[in-house]
Amino acid sequence: MADARPFHWEYHPEPVAREVFRIEGGRRLDGTVPISGAKNAALKLLAAATLTGERCRFTNVPEIEDVRVMAETLRDLGVVVDHPEPNVYEVASGDVEWLFVPLEAAARMRASFMLLGPLLTRFGRVIISNPGGDRIGRRPVDLHVEAMRALGASIEYRNGYYFATSPGRLRGGEIRFPFVSVMGTENAMLAATLAEGHTIIRPAAQEPEVDDLITFLQAMGAAVERTAPDTIEVEGRKRLRGAEHRVVPDRIEAGTFIIAAAVTGGRLTLEGAPCDHLAAFVETMDRVGVGIACGTDTIDVDGSALLEGGYRACDVETAPYPGLATDLQPPTAVLLTQATGTSHVHEAIFEDRLEWLSEVGRMGARVEMIDAHHATIDGRSRLVGAEVEIGDLRAGASLILAALAAEGTTTIHGAHHVHRGYENIERKFLDIGASISRSAEGTTDTTS
Ligand code: EPU
Repeated sequence: MADARPFHWEYHPEPVAREVFRIEGGRRLDGTVPISGAKNAALKLLAAATLTGERCRFTNVPEIEDVRVMAETLRDLGVVVDHPEPNVYEVASGDVEWLFVPLEAAARMRASFMLLGPLLTRFGRVIISNPGGDRIGRRPVDLHVEAMRALGASIEYRNGYYFATSPGRLRGGEIRFPFVSVMGTENAMLAATLAEGHTIIRPAAQEPEVDDLITFLQAMGAAVERTAPDTIEVEGRKRLRGAEHRVVPDRIEAGTFIIAAAVTGGRLTLEGAPCDHLAAFVETMDRVGVGIACGTDTIDVDGSALLEGGYRACDVETAPYPGLATDLQPPTAVLLTQATGTSHVHEAIFEDRLEWLSEVGRMGARVEMIDAHHATIDGRSRLVGAEVEIGDLRAGASLILAALAAEGTTTIHGAHHVHRGYENIERKFLDIGASISRSAEGTTDTTS
């Protein structure tokens, strides 16, 4: 099998501007939080815009680092990416000059690999680096590569790069994944939109962000449909047109703020929040004892049980949608430190996504790691401020949650990871009564 590690003789990662959050915990959070557009939808929509030379316009795009990285990566290819106002991006891929996605882009963000399908299917070739992304275990791309091969592409792997070519148009075909992959499904679907003939993708990921991408592709004139919950079928078209699309709200951000209310005993109203996309998570909250009321596009959270009877321990297991999202496992684990009894956590999707629990352990949580996929949490623990380090995006947001629940001050190093995926996170927390400040590593605070 191809070497799964990025490798490049000349590559030196750019130095990152490291940041620190300082959080004074123990305050109840109350108020209203606007929920932003979903990172994991926006990145794929931007990639999909390269399927046409016509202009595409996206609204409700989150102002986050990963979106900026994707925009920069597209510009390096010769794509025109305009950002006329906050949360709006316009993409025109009429003059793509450079069918090469370098390690510099890929090492910063795994979603850069989403350019494989659209560039290959439209231009018949692309050279793309093996992606990096979060430090949450080995994250291969073999399913993406096999999907392209199933559509007739030849792909070679050399020195950390995939060299993908297709002599003519890709050919529709049957793509059978051994298990569900979100980006694998999306890459296959994007490639199939311009292939010749019919493609069937099974099992297809069912995440709401995948359906958001389907809606956009349909607006571009693609014949894509989810014909069964786990099946997507595509009839290839010769060309697609420009389209406009509003990005679906971020269910992971919404879940993060639900836990913020829960662990501080607060009450929050989340605006523009997608309750329909959070069924498994809301069910977990019910079992633990967090009060949730869903409106049409609002979610009211009542964390008063924290101060009254307390929360109940609960066993959780992550799964592909409609199961409990792996991206909500770390915030949920923080809540479980505040629940009475022993909770078992089974992280079924990624290796190493429980490692960050050792940082919450430093804050006083009683956590036992059983293996790479299993841990137990004994609650209720009194969390106390400590100096902790963020390793990846979701763990980072969860350390903020733990710090908000803790007594005293927590210093979180590596805070810049959080800006990859959460728009204005400190502003949103400040507005609901948190005491949080951010500064460059080694300097004093820039916000309070
Ligand atoms: N996998 C393979 N081979 C592949 C692809 C995936 O073995 O070619 C494995 C993965 O290692 C993992 C499992 O399949 O064990 C499922 O991974 P999946 O492909 O579904 O994940 P992904 O598409 O790479 C997206 C999100 C992740 C989210 C997962 C699961 C984006 C940009 N990323 O990743 O989001 O955790 O789906 O829902 O959409 C995040 O936002 O912080 C994040 C990590």
